[in-house]
Amino acid sequence: MTNTHSVVIKGGHIVDSTGQRDADVVVVDGRIAAVGEDLSADRTLDAAGCIVSPGFVDIHSHLREPGKEEAETVETGARGAALGGYSAIVAMPNTTPAIDSAAVVRQVQELGRVAPCDVHVSGAITVDRAGEQLAPMAEMAALGVRLFTDDGAGVQDNALMRRAMEYSVGLGVVLAQHCEDDALCGGGHMHEGEWSARLGIAGQPAEAEELMVMRDIALARLTGARVHFQHMSTARSVAMIREAIAAGLAVTAEATTHHFTLTHAQCASYDPVFKVNPPLRTAEDVAAVKAGLADGAIGIIATDHAPHAAETKELPFDQAPPGMLGLETALALCLTELQLPIEQIIAALSWRPAAVVGIGDQHGRPIATGEPANIAVFDPEYRWTVRGSDMASRSTNTPYEGRELRGKVRHTLLFGEPVVISGEAQR
Ligand code: DOR
Repeated sequence: MTNTHSVVIKGGHIVDSTGQRDADVVVVDGRIAAVGEDLSADRTLDAAGCIVSPGFVDIHSHLREPGKEEAETVETGARGAALGGYSAIVAMPNTTPAIDSAAVVRQVQELGRVAPCDVHVSGAITVDRAGEQLAPMAEMAALGVRLFTDDGAGVQDNALMRRAMEYSVGLGVVLAQHCEDDALCGGGHMHEGEWSARLGIAGQPAEAEELMVMRDIALARLTGARVHFQHMSTARSVAMIREAIAAGLAVTAEATTHHFTLTHAQCASYDPVFKVNPPLRTAEDVAAVKAGLADGAIGIIATDHAPHAAETKELPFDQAPPGMLGLETALALCLTELQLPIEQIIAALSWRPAAVVGIGDQHGRPIATGEPANIAVFDPEYRWTVRGSDMASRSTNTPYEGRELRGKVRHTLLFGEPVVISGEAQR
């Protein structure tokens, strides 16, 4: 995807992995051609008052294709991602059929080729994500798959998970775990605690997540595998990961935007828009997730963007599927809710996740001459009100409906092409 016209991003403040400075950025043929003062080009993108950073990378997006195109497609999910400042996303494999073979990997990669965001594909660890038999990881890795997960479910069988980890070392891939012990979660629809008791909704204890975090840290130690912990939601999970990193294990972890902005008290409305796995937890857990983001125990912010069609999400709480939209609100939630330096927020949104999935040569790069022009330009002060119906997603299940947030993407460049200009998707 190249653009023969030159574009200048003018008047912005650059924040990247090398630091901060004011400069214009000229982009030609998919790459950054110049960074400096008073630059001009065929086309000007105004960045006055804006931060110019490497495009964001979401390593946890549900794009629903194949199988649930009524909720999202690769194209609509990628468009929402571009509007959210993302230049790359990783599609989760819990589709129908699951992404557990070379054929389905190829199908989603094909759909991604024409999308307005660089779509990478993750593969399932087990066949049909059923947790019984290892999926053909090597044939998927040969197509470029770098992250394997049964997301939506955790791999329950300890011996099978050990084998997957041993196998992953040879393939040089990352295993990402959705940490939930099914037996302990059994029949639960929200966090087990004060609110589940009051509301009469069956709960899932924090320990259902923590037991699997504990097990996978132990197996990472045993096998030397690269393990990534998805959507960490409890204070003790964060503490265990902090310790594992300090012990030198090759583990990384992500927090979703909803797990550091919402608590289980939100479920008091009985509105299934607040139903998600792992569930929204206590205020103490939210504070611990934020502390983990602050001290680096949790290095990555992910969305777990999980669109669901209205007819399913509007069922009663115990029947509705878990999941909430995330791609178009992530940046604003970070800027509104996290008291962290801007370079730390962008690190967690951009170059750190890019490194986990091995795309750090294309995304999250410094804003410097010769680098691929995958760039987000956003106004950190812009105030706007969240409306699910305004989003590019085919679904509207945002838990932030009506909420005023601060920070909005103005332009997104994908390999030099302005795919979002002045907040409008260009394709
Ligand atoms: O709430 C969730 N929804 N958690 C998951 O892990 C899966 C996701 C989905 O696919 O809807």
